[in-house]
Amino acid sequence: MLKFPKDLAIAATFAAAAILGQPIGQAVAADPEAGAKVYNKCKACHAVGEGAKNRVGPHLNGVFGRTAGSLEDYKYSKAMREAGEEGLVWDDATLGEYLAGPRAIIKGTKMAFAGLKKEEDVANLLAWLRRESGGADAAADEEPQAEEAEPAAAPEQPDAKPQAEDSQAASEAYTPPADAAPHGTYNLGRRATEEEVAAWNIDIRPDGKGLPPGRGTVSAGETIYTEQCASCHGVFGEGAGRWPVLAGGFGTLDDQRPVKTVGSYWPYLSTVYDYVRRAMPFGDARSLSDDDVYAVTAFLLYLNDVVTDEDFELSHENFTQYRLPNEPNFKADDRASEAHYADRSEPCMTECKPGPVTVEMRAAVLDVTPDAENGEQMGSGAVD
Ligand code: HEC
Ligand code: HEC
Repeated sequence: MLKFPKDLAIAATFAAAAILGQPIGQAVAADPEAGAKVYNKCKACHAVGEGAKNRVGPHLNGVFGRTAGSLEDYKYSKAMREAGEEGLVWDDATLGEYLAGPRAIIKGTKMAFAGLKKEEDVANLLAWLRRESGGADAAADEEPQAEEAEPAAAPEQPDAKPQAEDSQAASEAYTPPADAAPHGTYNLGRRATEEEVAAWNIDIRPDGKGLPPGRGTVSAGETIYTEQCASCHGVFGEGAGRWPVLAGGFGTLDDQRPVKTVGSYWPYLSTVYDYVRRAMPFGDARSLSDDDVYAVTAFLLYLNDVVTDEDFELSHENFTQYRLPNEPNFKADDRASEAHYADRSEPCMTECKPGPVTVEMRAAVLDVTPDAENGEQMGSGAVD
């Protein structure tokens, strides 16, 4: 892996030239305001600015001048840590290269981002990021004494303790909670508190059971969606790159490659509310308020033509009146009420082969996996 810094140095020279614009030397005015929009693509995974915390990715405060993979409280990939150890420091050139194609530059980085295709976007983004991340190249940050005046910009080393010491301290400090009276058959653990149960118990049923009170309109949902969802799912739910498609796909369920979306495939609206509230935006789950989730759910109904009015408001009161188109094609699991299941009788089997079961052939020998001859069709009709 030691060849990394050299490769990057060469690549970075090209990137620096590229960012400056085609005729080298002709300055291009990077526009930080335009960069703010580009940053929407990063937002689901990164925070920057006052109080920014690590999310899916590390916070980006002080990123200019920071050694790659060097935040103490973030768990980087091995590849990113090694790149830093080998001397990679973030500046316009190295960031430009990385953001244009993360995986091409740092093989094994866990940043799941395809890359910015336009040089202009990179330049604008970096201009914005430089402003928001605390500005100046942090060469000075590496010498804390020189920077006394600005505690906010100080690096995080001070409270970095060796880990062993930390966890030992933690285990000594542990006292069981007051309500830890032995209980249950095995006297293990303690009873979950009401708050803990409430935090887990957030499922929402098709009949509306579990819906929190709240409301939100299609147009409010559109704003949230544009800011927090469109970078992955596309402006119209068509899916950016390989991220999931959320709208359309009607009538494709019996195609070789069905397009399964909220509109074409999902059975219940409650699943949309439940799923989005629980899991989205990807990397920042549970950050939306209940009203926001109503609004985004209303917007997904709109993208899928179930409602057509931008003023439409979805709430806990009218929620169960709205149905997804594919609901009739699902049926409830009624096995428990089937006769042979309910009374545990023998299932009806006719014309069974007589005698005991014997293995006559194995799949590997039978060669049931189709060959790749028929190129295009390989792997089609994949089931999700
Ligand atoms: C899908 C989530 C995701 C998106 C989107 C994303 N990143 Fe990242 N980013 C990560 C992760 C995860 C890492 C840590 C990579 C590693 O450890 O290999 C990372 C690492 C970085 C680093 C290195 C920081 C350090 O401390 O060394 C920078 C800089 C960065 N990202 C900037 C960006 C910018 C700018 C964008 C938008 C153009 C972006 N990322 C989009 C997840 C993401
Ligand atoms: C950083 C990228 C990203 C962002 C931003 C994001 N999602 Fe997702 N979304 C995903 C991924 C990845 C999946 C698939 C997750 C899985 O299958 O485990 C997904 C799945 C979904 C699904 C289920 C799709 C299906 O058919 O399986 C819905 C609905 C959804 N997201 C809605 C949203 C909404 C609403 C927002 C904004 C509040 C949002 N997402 C923001 C990446 C993202």
